Order: sequence, then C-alpha cells, then structure tokens
Amino acid sequence: MQTKGTLQDMLNISFPLIMAPMFLVSNKEMIKAGMRGGIMSIFPSLNFRKKGELAGILDELNAYHKENLNGNYGVNLIVQATNPYYKEHLNICASKKVPFYITSLGNPKEVIEIAHSYGAKVFCDVTTMAHAQKCFDENCDGFIAVGQGAGGHAGPNPLQVLVPALKSSFTSKPVIAAGGIVSGQGLLSVKVLGAQGASIGTRFIASKECSVTENYKQAILKAGMDDIVMTTKLSGSPCTIINTPEAQKMGYSQSWFEKAMSNNPRTKKWFKSLVQLRGMKKLEQSVLPNNYNRLWCAGKSAELITEILSCETIISQIKDEYDSALKAIGKESAM
Ligand SMILES: Cc1cc2nc3c(=O)[nH]c(=O)nc-3n(C[C@H](O)[C@H](O)[C@H](O)COP(=O)(O)O)c2cc1C
Repeated sequence: MQTKGTLQDMLNISFPLIMAPMFLVSNKEMIKAGMRGGIMSIFPSLNFRKKGELAGILDELNAYHKENLNGNYGVNLIVQATNPYYKEHLNICASKKVPFYITSLGNPKEVIEIAHSYGAKVFCDVTTMAHAQKCFDENCDGFIAVGQGAGGHAGPNPLQVLVPALKSSFTSKPVIAAGGIVSGQGLLSVKVLGAQGASIGTRFIASKECSVTENYKQAILKAGMDDIVMTTKLSGSPCTIINTPEAQKMGYSQSWFEKAMSNNPRTKKWFKSLVQLRGMKKLEQSVLPNNYNRLWCAGKSAELITEILSCETIISQIKDEYDSALKAIGKESAM
C-alpha cells in the first residue's frame, strides 16, 4: 500500500526496500524481479558498458515498469572524475528519463541538476557526515547511509550511529540504511533507528536470477563474518571481499608507492583510474561464468546467508519477517 509522505510514496514503490546496485552482479532479471516484488531495484550503469547496451536496457526497463507499477528501478552512477563512462552514461540515463539515481564516491551536483530537471530523484551514498553535508548542499533528495561491514565500499561507521546522526542533522531528508541487512528483522531495526528503509546487496548475490559463477554464490553461503576482509587494492578505496587465497595474495593495502602516486596532484587522476581499471579487470575475471579466479566482493552479512533462493522468495520472506518482527515487538512492549 502506498501512503502519502512515506518513502514508498516518494519512490513509487510498495515496500521500503532497495535491491542495491552491485558492479558485475546486478542484471536485468534481478531488476525485473525486484520491480515485480514492489521494491526499488538499482543497477550500476557500469554493468552495461558496450555500445548501445545501456540505452537498450533502459528502454526495456521503462516498458517493463509500465506493466509492473508496484515497484520501480534506478541507476547507480559513480560520479568520480576517474570514471571514464560517467558523462556518457548520465546523458543516456537522462535521455531515457531514468526515475531514480544513487550516486557514489564523488560530487553529485550534475546528476542532481539533470535529474531534477525532469522530476527524477537522487539519493547519495554517504559514509560520513562531511560527505553527507556536501550532498545536502547540492540538494540531494535523500541518503543511502552505508555502514560498517557493507558489501563493496563499506563505511567506517556503525549504522546505529550514522543513521540517527544523519536524521538529526538533515531532518528533511529520508535515510536508507545499507550494510549487514538480510532480513525483515534487519529492516525493522534500521527503521527503529530512524531510517525510512533498507538497501540490501550481498543477500541478492545468492539468488537464482544472479548470473555470477556458482562458486561465488557457494562462497557466500560458506563465508562467516570473519571471512570478510577489507582491501584498498581493488579500487583505492576500502572494499569488502571474501578472504580467499587470491585475496590474501593480492593483499589488503596499497604499497607506499601506490599511496604516493594516488596523493601526488600530478599523478593522482590517471593513477587512480589505472588502479580502478586494474581492479575492475581482476573482479571481472572472478565473477563472470567460466572464470576460476576467486576475488569476490561481499559484505559481512554473508554470515547470515544460507540458501540460494529466487529474488521473489527473498523479497517475500523479508516482508513476512518484517510483519512478524513488528508484531513480536508490539507484544513485548504491551507486557
Ligand atoms: C558485489 C558488490 C558490488 C557492489 N558494487 C557497487 C557499485 O557498483 N556501486 C555502489 O554504489 N555500490 C556497490 N556495492 C554496494 C551496495 O550497493 C550496497 O551498498 C551494499 O551491498 C550493502 O551492504 P550489504 O551487501 O551488506 O547488503 C556493491 C556491493 C557488492 C556486494
């Protein structure tokens, strides 16, 4: 049910959940399943880098959305200068009138201006209050609070601090919590903290629609929270991966030389681009079918994931768990 003033109303969805954007992981079938399930499904534009691919998928999703108005879809743009596809992808998205964006890593100003010119909404990934302030100043519509242990570029701060801090500093902006959430209980817990919804990534890697290698999915089922480590070797920013022998061989932090090149104003831009390009290639060699490398990005929530299910089942389980958790809490407080 859509209620005035809620996140559901703002994003044209029927349940306050986001299927988080995942590089090399989010695919068309997952996005469509999310829309059918009444949630907001997001994919990174970088998953569709071949000529004509992004425009094609946007046409298909716009048509699919007309028949599945319970849910919605959006695109994640990496707004760093080191993303060579950024401008081209933003122009394509705007020409196809993408209804919702999540920006990550850089300054979202341009995306916000263009999106607002045709009524689309922009939420920004934030891990710190300083970054949130910049996004607020650029008039973002809301925040994705990315906390500790999240899959991908995890933040340094716990959600129990980040979410209430964002809510009290930016009272008018909705906050969606990301990191470590797999269930309806998890969603309810962040709503209690003041968030309007949750964004879930790692849980959806272990889904039937996801087209990564079976080994990657099995590794998520097997991994416990202590098997997830952070490395800056893949993109220059701290990123969570499963601690496989390949991850150990690659290492967890950049050498003094890499750090110096990334900080030097003259070499910074091209060196960071080079690191990111190299990292993308390494991940590609691990994630796509017929590859045997084991550099697999996943969050600490892997601890709680025990089954490969369809996206539809995952979403309906979360809805049921949310309702039961709400009732259980209600009963407790009445005692
Ligand atoms: C494999 C993988 C790839 C990711 N790629 C991106 C990405 O391209 N852009 C982005 O903004 N976030 C990315 N993320 C982060 C997710 O959007 C989301 O914030 C995170 O998965 C939430 O934490 P959880 O995995 O514990 O649910 C990625 C996460 C994973 C697990």
